[in-house]
Amino acid sequence: MTKTVRSLENLEEPFNFHYPSGATIVTSHARGRDNAMAVAWHVAVSRNPAYYAICISSNRFTHSLISETGEFVVNFMPKERNDLVATVAGCSGRDVDKFRSFKIAASQGSRVKAQVLEDAFAAFECRVVGHHPYGDHDIFVGAVLAVQFEAAAFKQDGRLLDLERVKPILYMGNDRYATTGDGSVHIEREALVKAAMKGTAGLRGPG
Ligand SMILES: Cc1cc2nc3c(=O)[nH]c(=O)nc-3n(C[C@H](O)[C@H](O)[C@H](O)COP(=O)(O)O)c2cc1C
Repeated sequence: MTKTVRSLENLEEPFNFHYPSGATIVTSHARGRDNAMAVAWHVAVSRNPAYYAICISSNRFTHSLISETGEFVVNFMPKERNDLVATVAGCSGRDVDKFRSFKIAASQGSRVKAQVLEDAFAAFECRVVGHHPYGDHDIFVGAVLAVQFEAAAFKQDGRLLDLERVKPILYMGNDRYATTGDGSVHIEREALVKAAMKGTAGLRGPG
């Protein structure tokens, strides 16, 4: 493939090249107010203990709620609810009570006050353990205090999302949404490395 190279002043358009990214809805609660916003910039940062990070612009109402209470919930949504993702992304909790206006079905988390959405196939209840600004977004790292999940959405003892039952939302940037195709393939990495290395000495030399 031939690559086009150019310098970058900001990451507005070219940054869309890193998509798709799973679209989630992050909920927060403070001062008696519940809020929900779409978040596509999120990542697991530690397995044990479980830490999960979200990137939130300081312009968002959510940013002020999480900063105040140090709590949030990451709700992982199925493709049937891409409308809800777009709706909560289309306005700010400063202007709209999204839970009331959009009749969002949810119940309070087991360990935090933020809401766990009825239609999420899984949700992480988090308490902030780290908060750092980077450019125009802040990273909030949350200790995952509890996970709620639809057992029927998973197989292999909860290790694998069952793509025949649940299709996650993939955000493509620019208000475009996709989902997964033909399910997943299992690739045995050690066998693959062994096969690729066959007949080569590797770094440790023969033997
Ligand atoms: C699919 C999608 C993903 C988004 N991901 C993020 C994100 O990761 N971080 C962020 O700060 N804003 C993100 N946004 C924008 C916010 O969801 C949007 O500004 C929202 O209205 C903020 O709501 P609030 O002011 O009630 O917190 C995203 C928008 C869309 C459509």
